Amino acid sequence: MSTTTVTTITSLTPTPGTSTKGQNRMTLDGKPTSYGDFRDDLNRDGYAVIKGAIPLDRAKNYADAFYTYMEGFNLGYNRSDPETVRRGQLPVLNEKGMILDYGVSHEQWVWDIRGEEGVVDAFSKVYDDQDLIVSFDVVNVGFANRVDMPENKPWPHQDQDPSKPGFRCLQGLINLHPCGPTDGGLIICKGGHALSQQFHTEMSHDERIPAWTPEWYGFTDAGMAWLSSHGLQWEKVCAGPGDLIVWDSRTPHYNVAPRGEVDRLAVYACYMPVREVGRADLVRKREAFECRLGTSHWPNAQHVSKTNIAMRDGKPCPVARERPVQEPVLSERVFRLTGIPYLEEMEREEGLV
Ligand SMILES: [Fe+2]
Repeated sequence: MSTTTVTTITSLTPTPGTSTKGQNRMTLDGKPTSYGDFRDDLNRDGYAVIKGAIPLDRAKNYADAFYTYMEGFNLGYNRSDPETVRRGQLPVLNEKGMILDYGVSHEQWVWDIRGEEGVVDAFSKVYDDQDLIVSFDVVNVGFANRVDMPENKPWPHQDQDPSKPGFRCLQGLINLHPCGPTDGGLIICKGGHALSQQFHTEMSHDERIPAWTPEWYGFTDAGMAWLSSHGLQWEKVCAGPGDLIVWDSRTPHYNVAPRGEVDRLAVYACYMPVREVGRADLVRKREAFECRLGTSHWPNAQHVSKTNIAMRDGKPCPVARERPVQEPVLSERVFRLTGIPYLEEMEREEGLV
């Protein structure tokens, strides 16, 4: 293990009457609020942009690390040569631009982004809680030169089981390049979070698009018409390098490919309070961390990848790998985001270690 040893952590069991942790957790109910920061946008619209969550110089360094990572597979991709934006010269990515495999979720540069103070702080404010765990999620590259890339068709969806209403999960992505109206990125149905329960009540008869998890709901044409007839509109979310975009999982969304000259570079990161997570979740999460596996956007590791081996044309990719190129070395603060210190405290209290 290359992580730091954690010797002291915040207790999971606050003294009765002394903790206000989580008492001001946002409700994301669509009503006006007066926080005076991004939370007002988030509560009203179901999404928000946190400008400069990562300072610009570091955002540029992370973009450089992203390109260096893709070049480092030595398949022929070179950021300076658009002709090398070819599937055979890149690590395997899906039509939405995600690199899912190769242990990318645990690369040092990805962990450095997850550990950025301005990013973590935004989620702490939403949950009114400093004790958070983070998803081991993937990265997204949307190349401007897409001649060899499959079409990225719209797949408007929510990332939350309709049978479990209410605000449960705040998703996030750190944007590393300029992202304007014609650049690739997130498209979101503004205010859709607040009408989610009504939608599912009134549209429960609608056909369900098959999904790999009940925590995904895809909108049919009829569903899209319902959103439109209730005055909701889709917006392209624009952001600068180092900005954090957050959205309620209930807010309908998808992403679009670039139509301009700029590559889209994004890293997904989602946090939730460890208090909202079960012991079994933390056990599963520790295993995922130790095996350097991904957990989707869910910090509670309810979905864990089976393998890091990328498949290319039905066969293991020649440069497939089980573990990251650069094993992560985490500070004590960032290591807490794995959930492992909290689990270890539970085990100490149970006398298991
Ligand atoms: Fe999604």
